Amino acid sequence: MLGGHLLHGGDYNPEQWLDCPEVLEEDIRLMKEAGVNCVTLGVFSWAVLEPEEGVYDFEWLEEIIDNLGKAGIQVILATPSGAMPHWLTQKYPEVMQVRADGQRNLPGKRHNFCYTSPVMREKVRAIDEALSKRFGRKENVILWHISNELGGNFSDGACHCEHCQEAFRRWLQEKYGTLEELNHAWWGRFWSHVYTDWEQIHSPAPHGETTVTGLEIDWRRFVTEQMSDFCGMERRAVKKYSGLPATTNFMSFFKNLDYHRLQKELDIISWDSYPFWHRIKDEVPEAVWAAANHSVMRSMKRAPFLLMESVPSAVNWREYNPLKRPGMHMLSSMQAVAHGSDSVLYFQWRKGRGAYEKFHGAVLDHRNGGNTRTFRDVSEVGERLPLLAKKAAGTVNRPKAAILFDWENWWAVEDTTGPRLDLDYVQCVLSHYRAFWEAGIEADFINMDAELDGYKLVSAPLNYMYRAGYAEKVRSFVENGGTFVTTYFSGEVNETDLCFLGRHPLEDVLGIGTEEIDAPGEEFANRFLYCGKEYPAARMCAIVHAKEGVSVLASYEEDFYRGCPVVTENAYGKGQAYFLAAESDQDFYRAFYGDLFQKTGLENPLRTELPYGVTAAERTDEDGKGLVFVMNFRNEPVKVEGTGRRTEAETGKVFEGEIELGAFECVVLDV
Ligand code: GLA
Ligand code: ZN
Repeated sequence: MLGGHLLHGGDYNPEQWLDCPEVLEEDIRLMKEAGVNCVTLGVFSWAVLEPEEGVYDFEWLEEIIDNLGKAGIQVILATPSGAMPHWLTQKYPEVMQVRADGQRNLPGKRHNFCYTSPVMREKVRAIDEALSKRFGRKENVILWHISNELGGNFSDGACHCEHCQEAFRRWLQEKYGTLEELNHAWWGRFWSHVYTDWEQIHSPAPHGETTVTGLEIDWRRFVTEQMSDFCGMERRAVKKYSGLPATTNFMSFFKNLDYHRLQKELDIISWDSYPFWHRIKDEVPEAVWAAANHSVMRSMKRAPFLLMESVPSAVNWREYNPLKRPGMHMLSSMQAVAHGSDSVLYFQWRKGRGAYEKFHGAVLDHRNGGNTRTFRDVSEVGERLPLLAKKAAGTVNRPKAAILFDWENWWAVEDTTGPRLDLDYVQCVLSHYRAFWEAGIEADFINMDAELDGYKLVSAPLNYMYRAGYAEKVRSFVENGGTFVTTYFSGEVNETDLCFLGRHPLEDVLGIGTEEIDAPGEEFANRFLYCGKEYPAARMCAIVHAKEGVSVLASYEEDFYRGCPVVTENAYGKGQAYFLAAESDQDFYRAFYGDLFQKTGLENPLRTELPYGVTAAERTDEDGKGLVFVMNFRNEPVKVEGTGRRTEAETGKVFEGEIELGAFECVVLDV
C-alpha cells in the first residue's frame, strides 16, 4: 500500500494562491481537519515552475511540500506537460497539435501538445529531470504523476502534424516491411487504394481517407504507441534521480488510447472517476458503469489502483450537475475501495476564483471554510479510511470470472461498416457485466493478450476481432475446463480487419456454423423462449446452425429464421462454450448468467441473493483474509437476508443472519 495508508486528499493547486498566504495556511489546517493525508501538486504548474525558458523557480513548491510534510501530509508530484505555458507555444509553434483536418491549434486549453515534436520532448524532459533532482528524494513525496489525462484533447486524441506523419510511416515500415504486405493487410486494391510509395500514406482525415479500416486501426495503434512512448520518456526523466513509482491518470472508457499498452509504462494505475450520480432515480446503471471502470483499472495489473480524482460534490461540465445526495459521497468513495482502490482522492481541494473550473466541486468552496455539507462529507471519509486501512493492506479483489474488454476490438467493431452503424461496444459489455454486478460477483476486464488460466468463466461479448493466437488460447481454456461465452458478430476479422474465410475460428469449440446476420429495424424484432420465459432478440440476430451434440437452449420464434438457435451450449474437452446469437435485454442476461453462475459454482461473498440495487465486493490477501463491502445504491433502506453470522470491520458489531443497510449505505465486513 503506497505510503502506508489508504490515501485521502486530492489535487491541490496552491500556485493559484501564492499571493494569499492566509489561504495557504488555512488549507493545511483544514486538510488536517478533513483527514487528508496526501495531495497532488504541480499538475498544471508549468508557467509558474518555469516562468521563462530554462529558468526554473522551484522555491515556492519546495516550501509548500515542506509545510505539508510538517503536517504529516504526503505528496504526489506531477510533471507539468498537461498544459503548456505561452512562452513555449509562442517560440515553438510546432509543439501544438495539428488536427485531422490539417489545421494547427492555437495556443490555449490543455492536453493539446504534439507528443512526437522533438522540441516538446526536450522541454518536458528537461523540466522533469529538474523536478526529479530537486524533489525525487524528499521524504513526503511518494509518487510521480505523469502529465494529465493523456490524449484528452481532441476527438481522436491525436496530432496529425508532419512530425507525426513521418513517424507513422516509419512505424508502418517497421511493422510491415514492404508495401506489398501493407497493401494486402489493408486490402488496398479496393477502390484502387494501392500504395506505391511510403510517402503516399497519410493519417485518416475527414477530407481524406476514411474508408480503409486497416489504416484506421493502425493509426489508432500508432497514436497509442507514440503517446505511450512520450509517457515512457517522462517516466525515465522523473526517475533519473528518484526511485519513486510513476502513474498517470486514466479516464473512464477512453477510446482513443489503448490503456493496456500505455499501462506498461507505469508502475501504478490511477484514474479519474466522474459518474453521473442522480441523473435518474435508479442509480444502478451509473453504479455498474463506475464499478466496471474501477475493475478495468484493477485488472490492468491485477493489483490495487488509485482513485486519482473524484468530485466531493458536483462537477461543472455536464449540461446539468446534480449535487451528491446525502450518503452518496461516502458510498461512491467506498465503492472505489471495494473494487480495489487504495485511495479516495478528489479533484479539487479548493475551488479556484476564476476561469473554467471555478464552479467545479471541491472540498473547499469560495465561502464558509470547513463549515459546509461537502466538507463534513469529506471529513467522514477521512475518518473512515484509517479504520479500514490496516485490514485492507495487502488485499485485492481476486475474481474467478473475466469479461473481455479489448481496445483494438473496440476500434474495429465501431469503425466497421455493417451490419449496423450504431454498435456500441461499451454499452454491450456493460449489459453483460451488469448481470455480474447485480449478482455481487466480481469480474476482471481483460484484453485478448491476457492469460485465461485461473478463471472459471470468461465472457467475450461482441468479440469481432481475433488477434493471432487468441482462438487457440480460448480453445485450450475450454479444453481444460473453462466456461466461455461469446455472442453474435464475434470472430469475424483478424488484427487488420480482414475477414476470416471459410469458418468461424472457434467453430469447433462453440459447435455452431455461422451463416447470416440480420440487423432488423424495430418492427422486425424477433423473440425467443429461454427456460420458459420470453425475451426479445433485436438489433443483431445471427443465423447459425448447431452441430451435432450441441444443446440448443433457445430458438427464434419469428420470421424466416424461426427455429434457428439463439442460445447454444457445447461441451468441449472438460469445459463448456456458449453462443448468444442475438442481442437481448437485461432480464435475459440476468437469467442466463444466473444459470451460469450456478453451473460454474461462482458465488458472491455473502453467499445469498442480493436485493435490487445492492452489490458486494471482496478484497482479500493471499490467506483469504480481508474485507467485504456491501453497498446499497438505493435511496432507501434495504435488508439483505441469509448472510450468516458476519462482523463489521470497523466496529466489531455482529450481524446475525441479516444485514440492514440504510439509503446509500456501505457496510464493510471482515472475512
Ligand atoms: C479531469 C482533469 C482535472 C479536472 C477534472 C474536472 O479529471 O484531470 O484537471 O479538469 O477533469 O472534472
Ligand atoms: Zn505531431
